[in-house]
Amino acid sequence: MRSSILTTMFTHMEARLVTVVTPQWEEQESLNYIKFADTFVPDRQHQLRLMARLVADDAVKLVDLCCGNGDFVDHLLSVNSNVNVIAMDRSSAMLDAAKLRLARWGDRAKVVAF
Ligand SMILES: C[S@@+](CC[C@H](N)C(=O)[O-])C[C@H]1O[C@@H](n2cnc3c(N)ncnc32)[C@H](O)[C@@H]1O
Repeated sequence: MRSSILTTMFTHMEARLVTVVTPQWEEQESLNYIKFADTFVPDRQHQLRLMARLVADDAVKLVDLCCGNGDFVDHLLSVNSNVNVIAMDRSSAMLDAAKLRLARWGDRAKVVAF
């Protein structure tokens, strides 16, 4: 439960930030984000790794809302062998990227549109 709240807070913070910059997330922004996020979000991969390590070891099920290309879930499943994740997003570019990224985890990662 603790881990689910942490991740939800993280995605909410991002969602608020995005809302400030643009009232609606467009598909082109997904394409830009997939390509450039590691450049314009300082230490993004380090942040994602850190977040993944904050998830409790005994977490069994987690939902990543606005999962993007699945980077966070990929890090999480790499360091936590118990947890299964439902990764959700609206953007088809992000969903496609997340499906590709997370395919190696099989049933441990479900990618779902919302
Ligand atoms: C800044 S990206 C962050 C992606 C991911 N959490 C990460 O850290 O890499 C914001 C994500 O929120 C999604 N998003 C924005 N508004 C949404 C909405 N109303 N419903 C579902 N997803 C949304 C976008 O498609 C995008 O994947």
